[in-house]
Amino acid sequence: MIRIKNKKQIEGIRASCQMLSALYDALKPLVQPGATPKDLDRFAYDFIVKNGGKPAFLGYEGYPATLCISVNDVVIHGIPGSRPLEEGDIVGIDSGIDLDGFFSDAAFTLPVGKITTEAQKLLDVTKECLDLAIAQIKPHSRISDISRAVFSHATKNGFKVVRQYCGHGVGLEIHEDPQIPNYVSAGPNPRIMPGMVLAVEPMINVGTSDVRVLDDDWTVVTMDGSLSAHFEHTVLVTDSGCEVLTRW
Ligand code: MF3
Ligand code: CO
Repeated sequence: MIRIKNKKQIEGIRASCQMLSALYDALKPLVQPGATPKDLDRFAYDFIVKNGGKPAFLGYEGYPATLCISVNDVVIHGIPGSRPLEEGDIVGIDSGIDLDGFFSDAAFTLPVGKITTEAQKLLDVTKECLDLAIAQIKPHSRISDISRAVFSHATKNGFKVVRQYCGHGVGLEIHEDPQIPNYVSAGPNPRIMPGMVLAVEPMINVGTSDVRVLDDDWTVVTMDGSLSAHFEHTVLVTDSGCEVLTRW
């Protein structure tokens, strides 16, 4: 069941998204060589709690942190650890906030210092995939229009789309219907309607699209060790198109 949010719910979700955006404004300058993911996670936890929210990922199906921090070949769900970030790394940061029962979800991938040309191209193309996907979001389009936009742009640029993880509805829970694959699937393909809130999140790899989960049961890495990038926004469908509620 895809929930259509009412005015009051939309205002709650908007406030949650604004807090997440403010967190990212504060967090971004801290992503530097020598910073540890654990330090960033602690900062995010304190920020959210101080502002009256709850870290939506912490405790979700047992997830142990506020942020997912996914470095280099980690696709998503990296558990913040104590290995310091190094010049040349690419760092995915993903989080969500539960503010009075209203949920936000957003992610971005940042370079640490100088990175390779190929890594920069991966970041640029993955972000473009998200922008092109969002451009498809308007009443009466279908979920497959989002999927196709991501898949064709990534593929055209020689990159591979992760298939095991998808975008999703969001707002009153962290994961709601519908699933939003980043490839055109044979599954359900609902129409997009005003009042839907969607988390769109391309996950794009340089090498194979195959991924595996490490022994910690969370960390998703590329099968071949190649780099991966992830960008995500929470997007409200409006009468005339859409509004991006998060910002990084
Ligand atoms: N970041 C995931 C998503 O975007 C959700 C987090 S799952 C968690 O859908 F367990 F890591 F919290
Ligand atoms: Co998400």
